[in-house]
Amino acid sequence: MRITVPNPLGPPITFDTDSLRQTYSRIPSLVPTTTGGGRSIARRPHFRLLVFIFGLVLLITFHPRPPFPPNYSSEWRTESRLPQIKGDIGPGEGKNGRYVKFDVPRGTGFNHQLQRVLLQHHLAVLGNRSLAFEPYVEDDTYLPFKVSRWPWRSARIPLSAYVATVISGFESFYNTPRAVPASYYRNVCPSYKEQTHTIRTDLHPDGDMALVADGQARIHQIQVLLAGSDQSCVRIIGEPFDDEFFDSTASLDLYESFVKSPVMKHFSFAPTVLSILNKALPYLAPESQPYNLESISHANGDPVRTGMWKQILALHLRRGKNWEMVCDEKGARAAPFVSFNKLPLLPGNENVPPPPTMVEATRMGLYRAKCLPQTLDIIARARRMRKNHPLLRSVYILTDAEEDDWVKEIRMWLQSEGWDHVWIGKEDVYPEWQDKEVGVAVDMEVGRRAGVFVGNGVSKLAP
Ligand SMILES: *[C@@H]1O[C@H](CO)[C@@H](O)[C@H](O)[C@H]1NC(C)=O
Repeated sequence: MRITVPNPLGPPITFDTDSLRQTYSRIPSLVPTTTGGGRSIARRPHFRLLVFIFGLVLLITFHPRPPFPPNYSSEWRTESRLPQIKGDIGPGEGKNGRYVKFDVPRGTGFNHQLQRVLLQHHLAVLGNRSLAFEPYVEDDTYLPFKVSRWPWRSARIPLSAYVATVISGFESFYNTPRAVPASYYRNVCPSYKEQTHTIRTDLHPDGDMALVADGQARIHQIQVLLAGSDQSCVRIIGEPFDDEFFDSTASLDLYESFVKSPVMKHFSFAPTVLSILNKALPYLAPESQPYNLESISHANGDPVRTGMWKQILALHLRRGKNWEMVCDEKGARAAPFVSFNKLPLLPGNENVPPPPTMVEATRMGLYRAKCLPQTLDIIARARRMRKNHPLLRSVYILTDAEEDDWVKEIRMWLQSEGWDHVWIGKEDVYPEWQDKEVGVAVDMEVGRRAGVFVGNGVSKLAP
């Protein structure tokens, strides 16, 4: 009998149970006691069980296919061995360093967590403190996996698997302390060393910190607190950057200073993400230099400079679970575009939010069209983009759609319109199960570099 198990490191491994039998014949209890009657050892229940267990162990050890997501061991290890943790410290670092940690409610999506951590980092640098960053949280559970979804997903993923700049140490160039993982903060900041503040919200009506509404003023307010305190550790409980913040014009108030901030100037996605794109470059953007993963991981003072992929039109097609409900909810309250999508320089946001005089049916239709465009509208939009931007040749689709049929239909339509290539991120660029969890950042990076990016104004994705 032959058993074949898949092997990620090479060709599949085939075991011949005949040779196994020879091995096991050295174990007395497994030696066949009867020779006649054609009763083969392989038919023995306990032998089959052993082979089964052996195969299972091999499978788990060598090929953690779904249900097991990747374990990110190298990213976790890098985070726990940062120089600022291992004693190679600068001003404001080490045991008596100056830290800030934000305790925020869990349970928001990737785009929100990304925008939030960038704003937190911005605040930490302004306040001359080291940001204690939490991992990306997919599911708030004690289990290592999110088991409510199939295949399972990691419940927590090290932030440095997404964002390089939380560990690159670029802060040193600004004479401010480098960020550290929250686990380190918990070691060096026992509660007696902590100064805590609670943001006043419905959840914490007695909070000592009432944040102002204006975005820039809010940043300033927290910066003053962080810079002014001589406590080693400051912990802020509550969410300074909640949905209300992203709905309001607050992000526009701070836009100018934020995009020019060190955090944004040095921003780069992580090597985990960019190495996937390096593999795709030969077809995605053959003229483009690959990312230098070495210089991205160790800030050398040079902001990461990358060219544009002028021939690519990136389309963000939001579809996932509950999205229809979100669109209706936005329409019902005539919601503004989210966050930086409100920027006046971006086309397409002139009529959102609509004037209160607009009748309800028209308003709901408007939100449907913006939020959940139909196939023909998507095709027409792409066609219009190509007319306005003659350099565009290919389309890259960013989507969270669960049913692949819908996306494939869009692709078919676009192909029939004569686009050179139509790529779907999760189908063409990161089809491997190991890459899927960081795929959202791969998509975003393509969106950042594409000649034209057509986003979804009510989504928090804002490359
Ligand atoms: C930040 O604080 C450290 C002392 O902890 C000081 O040496 C450094 O100059 C400060 N950096 C800035 C930019 O003010």
